[in-house]
Amino acid sequence: MKVGGQDTRAAWWSDEGVRYLDQRVLPGRVAIGLARTVEEVARAIETMAVRGAPLIGVVAAYGLALAARRGEAAEAAYARLARTRPTAVNLWKGLDAVQAAGPGAQARLAAARAFDDAEVAAAEAIGRHGLALFRRGTRVLTHCNAGWLAVQDWGTALAPVYQAARAGLEPFVWVSETRPRLQGARLTAWELGEEGVAHTLIADGAAAHLIQRGRVDLVLTGADRIAANGDAANKIGTYSRALAAQAHGVPFFIAAPRTTIDPATLTGADIVIEERDPDEVLTVEGLDEAGKPARVRVAPAGTPALNPAFDVTPGALIAGIITEIGIVPATAEGIAGAMSGAERTESATPRTASGSPS
Ligand code: MRU
Repeated sequence: MKVGGQDTRAAWWSDEGVRYLDQRVLPGRVAIGLARTVEEVARAIETMAVRGAPLIGVVAAYGLALAARRGEAAEAAYARLARTRPTAVNLWKGLDAVQAAGPGAQARLAAARAFDDAEVAAAEAIGRHGLALFRRGTRVLTHCNAGWLAVQDWGTALAPVYQAARAGLEPFVWVSETRPRLQGARLTAWELGEEGVAHTLIADGAAAHLIQRGRVDLVLTGADRIAANGDAANKIGTYSRALAAQAHGVPFFIAAPRTTIDPATLTGADIVIEERDPDEVLTVEGLDEAGKPARVRVAPAGTPALNPAFDVTPGALIAGIITEIGIVPATAEGIAGAMSGAERTESATPRTASGSPS
């Protein structure tokens, strides 16, 4: 994907360390961060300078390669990176891919690069498979950011949107703001704007209303971990969108690479849900009049707050999971097939109505 006309990935390896687009300062500023040590890589993940399940897997993989090059103890590096965030399984998939390459620094870097490239290829394939769900002017509702900032080069939920746009289908995207970190408002709206895709930002509470009024053809989100039975964890607020979609006969799809599937997690109830600092709920961060990041308090001093970062959508509410090998059912059989399967050749039958942006 391009930023200011330049091909850019959300994170990449350099001789100095791991470089990344600092997602904390978007959309105000495009700033490149540099993590020179394992600790700095871990902090970039924890502070959400880099975020999104597939991206943190890639960055963790490069972090472990960095440890080998710097002569940092491999086991300690693995442990430090593994405890940065608890929900997205991609984190450990990235670490394991590098660890499996053996102790050599060259081999570890090659494994991290291969893991990165495989995620790019998977995202591109997700876009191709998801394109079957689109007609001219399909109105998608998405939540959080599952675009190329979260998943190298294409995104997951946004990959089919970008493919549809390139195919001239003029997709339209409702972007829910995604409190408390506002990934929708800050990141998805920015990405779609850069790519010239028509979109409109809505308050989180407006999503069910738009679905009820027939203004959404398709709900499409990413995932941070998919359990063996097809239940899927994604950004807090995803479950309520899936419930509203089911109530009004609108299909709800998840888009995710197979690195997001965790067969060792049997059901959604077993997924660890990250709880972040309550201060993220008690405050709002944005840009001041001068375009500088600023944080303001929105609740009375002393208000207790709770900040679960993810929720779980049961497989029964998911019309299908768009993976790099095709669209699979969100069931135990579908997940088992996806993990063992080769590319599926049949295309999904879209259950969306077509329509123009409204
Ligand atoms: O807390 P984040 O921003 O890392 O969470 C990311 C999400 O939940 C995204 O919605 C997502 O779909 C997973 S990344 C494609």
